[in-house]
Amino acid sequence: MSKIILTGDRPTGRLHIGHYVGSLRRRVELQNSGEYDKTYIMIADAQALTDNIDDPEKVRQNVIEVALDYLACGLDPAKSTLFIQSQISELCELTFYYMDLVTVSRLQRNPTVKNEIQLRNFEASIPVGFFTYPISQAADITFCKATTVPVGEDQLPMIEQTKEIVHKFNSIYAPDDPVLVDPQALIPEDDACKRLPGTDGKAKMSKSLGNCIYLADTADEVRTKVMSMYTDPLHLQVSDPGHLEGNTVFTYLEAFAKDEHFERYLPEYANLDELKAHYTKGGLGDVKVKKLLNNILQEELEPIRNRRAEFAKDIPEIYNILKKGSETAREAAGQTLSEVKRAMKIDYFEDMELIKAQSEKYSK
Ligand code: TRP
Repeated sequence: MSKIILTGDRPTGRLHIGHYVGSLRRRVELQNSGEYDKTYIMIADAQALTDNIDDPEKVRQNVIEVALDYLACGLDPAKSTLFIQSQISELCELTFYYMDLVTVSRLQRNPTVKNEIQLRNFEASIPVGFFTYPISQAADITFCKATTVPVGEDQLPMIEQTKEIVHKFNSIYAPDDPVLVDPQALIPEDDACKRLPGTDGKAKMSKSLGNCIYLADTADEVRTKVMSMYTDPLHLQVSDPGHLEGNTVFTYLEAFAKDEHFERYLPEYANLDELKAHYTKGGLGDVKVKKLLNNILQEELEPIRNRRAEFAKDIPEIYNILKKGSETAREAAGQTLSEVKRAMKIDYFEDMELIKAQSEKYSK
């Protein structure tokens, strides 16, 4: 069986380093590993509209921002199909048929949906499109028969929902010869990468909280954000013992630091463990740790920022890449949709057997 990757992001803002350690970095590695037959990367504009009904311009503007972030990180259109969700109308058809396989109560129990409903104060007036987006996400994942879905941990309930749809579809409509493929989520192993907190120590990076470091931030912006990061409120003097738990600077180091960085920037310590030991013992100031983090982030982000600027010089070409990618994705979606329709017995005009059997019935 082919090994196929699909994943994507909602274009509601530029991508930040939480996206990077949570999924983007991994996608580029997977793309370059040579182990996958195909890689699809989707800009989920239709999904973004489910909770940005009033702001289509925001979604429209951010499609190109996300595309630039992708290319800057090293997603390569020669190896990966980059496309825009709304351009694949087959996804709507798949979603419509999958709706028959999911109950309202099952959607209500989806932890991600529950959480987002609270977050957006939808409580009393949940748009149906928003409520059912896990079903549309199942269409996203299955149209290309994805086997592997690299995502952040918060997306696990979506993959679970997709698996249920796949199993139900195959068992009802295609018991002998399964049509849909069961996908596996691929989430970061490292806890720090699973959920990178905001620079203010809040649980999540979010544009509205203003606590993100963006891939497109300038070197100065990154430095300013790092130097004002939340650390340990009890660590008032250098000599005080510091705490690592909830200390954002150390969480970021966990996600980004490698031993070689210490050689380059802080050779008194062999690795992060030694730095942590000194910090918890007391005698190590926050500024020194922040400077280390800044050096590491600058090293990682500079090439990304430069590539981004390079790609941004030819915006028509970026739209062209997305257009071509969308055409490729549509072909795959068309193929899967026709298999789905055949399995569901709604392929009337392609089924010569049916036409023959019906004419025989009436010619007797
Ligand atoms: N729900 C994802 C997010 O909010 C975006 C997304 C849409 C997605 N369709 C997908 C991710 C399919 C993986 C697979 O980031």
